[in-house]
Amino acid sequence: MAGIYLHIPFCAKKCHYCNFFSLASQKNMGAFIDALCHEIELQKDYLQNEAISTIYFGGGTPSLLPTEYLKRILDQLNANFQIEKDAEITLEANPDDLNFEKLRQISETSINRLSIGIQSFDDEDLKFLNRSHSVQQASEAIYNAHKLGLNNISIDLIYGIPGLNDEKWKQNIDKAIASGVQHISAYSLTVELNTAFDLFIKKGKIKAPDEEASLRHFNILTEQMAKNSFVHYEISNFCKQEFYSRHNSNYWKQQKYLGLGPSAHSFNLKSRQWNIANLQQYIQSIQKGDIPFEKEELSIKQRYNEYVMTGLRCIWGVNLDYIYSEFGEKYYLYLINNSIEYINNQFIAQNKNILTLASKGKFLADGIAADLFYE
Ligand SMILES: C[S@@+](CC[C@H](N)C(=O)[O-])C[C@H]1O[C@@H](n2cnc3c(N)ncnc32)[C@H](O)[C@@H]1O
Ligand code: SF4
Repeated sequence: MAGIYLHIPFCAKKCHYCNFFSLASQKNMGAFIDALCHEIELQKDYLQNEAISTIYFGGGTPSLLPTEYLKRILDQLNANFQIEKDAEITLEANPDDLNFEKLRQISETSINRLSIGIQSFDDEDLKFLNRSHSVQQASEAIYNAHKLGLNNISIDLIYGIPGLNDEKWKQNIDKAIASGVQHISAYSLTVELNTAFDLFIKKGKIKAPDEEASLRHFNILTEQMAKNSFVHYEISNFCKQEFYSRHNSNYWKQQKYLGLGPSAHSFNLKSRQWNIANLQQYIQSIQKGDIPFEKEELSIKQRYNEYVMTGLRCIWGVNLDYIYSEFGEKYYLYLINNSIEYINNQFIAQNKNILTLASKGKFLADGIAADLFYE
């Protein structure tokens, strides 16, 4: 059940809200691909021969890679890992890269899931966010992908954007549903340090996102999704039938994964490690045969806190028996005592040995989880 994440650190341009590690220049792409393929080989023992059930090309913008590069990476993964036959292989993509020919090429590889960054079905919003595509390109990309038989498609949307009123947000959701995609990820706009939005807000050029509007958008979203038979399986994620993101669900279920590329994180149940977030240094170090990473051994307290955080955010919840068997009586009693008030006030629902967030607790997930952390 292990997964592999590949971080592709290139973008057409930098969006105003984003602080993921990526560069708006593609000049080192060839050297990066060489380094990434070398790292795959260097890391082939990290997952101790476990079969790979999911592969995820994330970024950055992996769809910027020519298909030849994608194929080379997939071949190198196949040569060094045992990839399951029905593995879920996802490519994050921006609509401006997904012309018909590119989609056709992708459909001929083993990539079987697309995660397309749509963000909004309104051109004004896209301009405000500094996206590199139009609504027209986004709609065509979804239409053509379906036409080519790519029928496991996720799209990303952002709400809580200053100027996005409830009516416009509702229309966005309606358009997302009407597009026929199987999965929708919707994120509340957060202002990350050192992004363009952070600077604009500090200079008074734009307003900060309004918490109350974000909460209203979240409520509109959950209502519309439920009406249209999407399962709300993680705070920000909704899917039709069984179209969960298997890769992300495995993170949330505490499965092992290997992250490759600059800034990518890996987890082997006992420790976490993360590669350097610098492309030049990543390439130079890998060329010498060294993986440039830092590592942290996880204490029982950290593992408990992570499990509570991810468990509460998901439909699968926090299993009290698992807490007892994995972390011991001290943590079990701590969680029981600290969740009582949330259960009594209906922020958390208890069904036998499983704790999940109730409707009114969902938007407050991070705060509630933090309250249940063992300090
Ligand atoms: C890191 S991006 C990678 C995918 C691809 N490059 C794209 O832009 O669609 C993954 C998603 O995270 C979300 N995201 C990134 N930064 C965010 C922020 N500050 N607030 C809300 N959502 C954010 C966006 O919806 C984006 O599609
Ligand atoms: S949101 Fe996606 S396209 Fe925009 S800068 Fe971040 S990674 Fe790049």
